[in-house]
Amino acid sequence: MRRCLIAANWKMHGTVASIEAYLETLVERVGPDGPEVVVCPPFTLLPAALLIASGSEVAVGAQNCHWADAGAFTGEVAAPMLAELGAQWVIVGHSERRQHFGETDETAAARAKAAQRAGLSVIFCLGETLEQRDAGETLAVLERQSAALAGLDPALLAVAYEPVWAIGTGRNATPAQAQEAHAALRRRAGELLGAEAAGTLRILYGGSVKPDNALSLLAQSDVDGALVGGASLDVEGFCAIIHAAPGRRPGA
Ligand code: PGA
Repeated sequence: MRRCLIAANWKMHGTVASIEAYLETLVERVGPDGPEVVVCPPFTLLPAALLIASGSEVAVGAQNCHWADAGAFTGEVAAPMLAELGAQWVIVGHSERRQHFGETDETAAARAKAAQRAGLSVIFCLGETLEQRDAGETLAVLERQSAALAGLDPALLAVAYEPVWAIGTGRNATPAQAQEAHAALRRRAGELLGAEAAGTLRILYGGSVKPDNALSLLAQSDVDGALVGGASLDVEGFCAIIHAAPGRRPGA
């Protein structure tokens, strides 16, 4: 079985003052039977978020980590530092990191390895640009980007398919487009991680997931959850997406 996973990517939003009411509501609404729920706030909010979520069914993750365990890397945060705080997850390779901060397939792979070394679970993001989709290169891009999964521990891994053209644009992939990409990613995971690991791997969809499109996306047999940006900033909207997700579905 695969337990669905719904993750909030708050990006560079939120204040200590604003998260208390949000997280108290979320913690109250999330139980053990539905999908797994993770909230990824900015670094500065991690201690406050962890305090409120402590002992609840809501896990807390970061949005990035460095590939070294420590060192002269001004402005960076290392995976063991996140683990020390109690974070359980980290997003790696997000397209905004690739677009604006020089993230490459190689650095994303190194960050994912560092995260797992520290015992953190990774949400590894990949996805094509609009030019690549229009040129018919989607599956080739996913194959290239997913090479980073080789050597990762499948027990500490989820993959997020996030077409760049769908992120923050209000234009989500259709359920059929998502299913096609997810099925290809699962086949690829089978080559890289083995059939059993691929069968239980959670592959999330991300890109303009909203309460009104979550149900049809999450109904696809290979869409095991969602990575939600904009719509996760409103707790009611985020809860509606969580409730649209099946708790568990049969793995391959
Ligand atoms: P969006 O962002 O839901 O605002 O499109 C998703 C993401 O970037 O993870």
